Amino acid sequence: MTQLEVRELADKKQDSIVLHLLLTNRCNLQCNHCCNDSQAGEPEGLSMEICKSLADSCRPAGVTAVHFTGGEVTLRRDLVTCIEHFAAVGIKPGFFTNGINVSDQLLQELDGRISAVSVSVDGPQQHHDYLRALPGAFDRTIRFIARVKDMGWHCLVQCTVTQGNLRQLDKVAEWAESLGLSRLHFTPLELAGRATVMPERERLTVKDLHLLFDTIARLKGDYPEMEIGLRGMSDTTFIREHPCNVYACQGSCHEGRSSFPRDLVITSDGTVYPLIKDLHPFFQLGNVNNRPLSDLVQEFERSDRFMVFQLLCKYVFQEMISHYPYPLFPWLASLGLASRSEKFWSSIGRTMPPIEGGHRVLSLD
Ligand SMILES: C[S@@+](CC[C@H](N)C(=O)[O-])C[C@H]1O[C@@H](n2cnc3c(N)ncnc32)[C@H](O)[C@@H]1O
Ligand code: SF4
Repeated sequence: MTQLEVRELADKKQDSIVLHLLLTNRCNLQCNHCCNDSQAGEPEGLSMEICKSLADSCRPAGVTAVHFTGGEVTLRRDLVTCIEHFAAVGIKPGFFTNGINVSDQLLQELDGRISAVSVSVDGPQQHHDYLRALPGAFDRTIRFIARVKDMGWHCLVQCTVTQGNLRQLDKVAEWAESLGLSRLHFTPLELAGRATVMPERERLTVKDLHLLFDTIARLKGDYPEMEIGLRGMSDTTFIREHPCNVYACQGSCHEGRSSFPRDLVITSDGTVYPLIKDLHPFFQLGNVNNRPLSDLVQEFERSDRFMVFQLLCKYVFQEMISHYPYPLFPWLASLGLASRSEKFWSSIGRTMPPIEGGHRVLSLD
């Protein structure tokens, strides 16, 4: 997150929650870097009955914006019905897509019903096709962008950065400008899902992250008309001065922000997490297949899990941010890491609850 984005976050209304909904984990691609392990053959995801009850409980839960992601949400035949349920409660969702195989009919049906579309373009053609594990993927996605631009949609380009395209981001910005695109966001490769088994040479070191930061600062100067953002990284100084933006207020920051997480993630099996799905399962709010979201939010706010969530944020703030020597801090990834480390749990006098299934246990040492 850039300083600007952190400030925008600070400007959000205290009770407004952004919901990131993984509508399906099924995908028409099997990208090498996919943090969600998405692929063909995965279950379709939340039933339409649950999507409707989720939409109904958004307002009572304090949700004001919804982003659909996955998997590939355009594979869901009932996508438009789902969007209508959210429209009925006054929420126009945005969605992420790889732009592969989206039919004209679906585009026509979505027209006017969505707030924005984020399309993934991971750098120059060769690198994009490699990450997407599909020759020709780049050209297909570019054709998709041209179609949605013709329809007048707000289109944001989302570019994942690895070693393979880190030094070619100028080309991405040049290309975005040539297509008349006004929003370009970069996300450093996150080590989750299939990205954990990618070749070591694709990973970004701390030094690379700083080259990325410098590159973005330069691109912002070169393309003043374009909104160029960096996801997953937060401005270290701003967080230090305003800990309540990361739910870690110690009384030193007086913005008086709500300590309740302003982002919720719902995975394709209905599990609700505060902020990111990589947190230790202890922090789950519950499952929307069993309870309305509004109940889960209210219960969480009164629970021991919420108190521990705040302790986790304070721990990351004290132990990691306060001495961090670099201008950008990977706050979300650090929360995920700390939540699954023995060091955090022993710092609050508890034993780390056991982790079932695929969650990794990590050490901060
Ligand atoms: C999980 S995808 C789902 C939406 C859609 N299928 C797509 O690819 O745009 C959402 C975004 O996360 C990005 N992404 C996937 N794995 C990632 C990783 N390991 N690190 C950073 N971004 C990642 C994708 O490139 C995409 O921009
Ligand atoms: S990154 Fe997107 S397109 Fe690629 S496998 Fe994951 S969900 Fe599918």
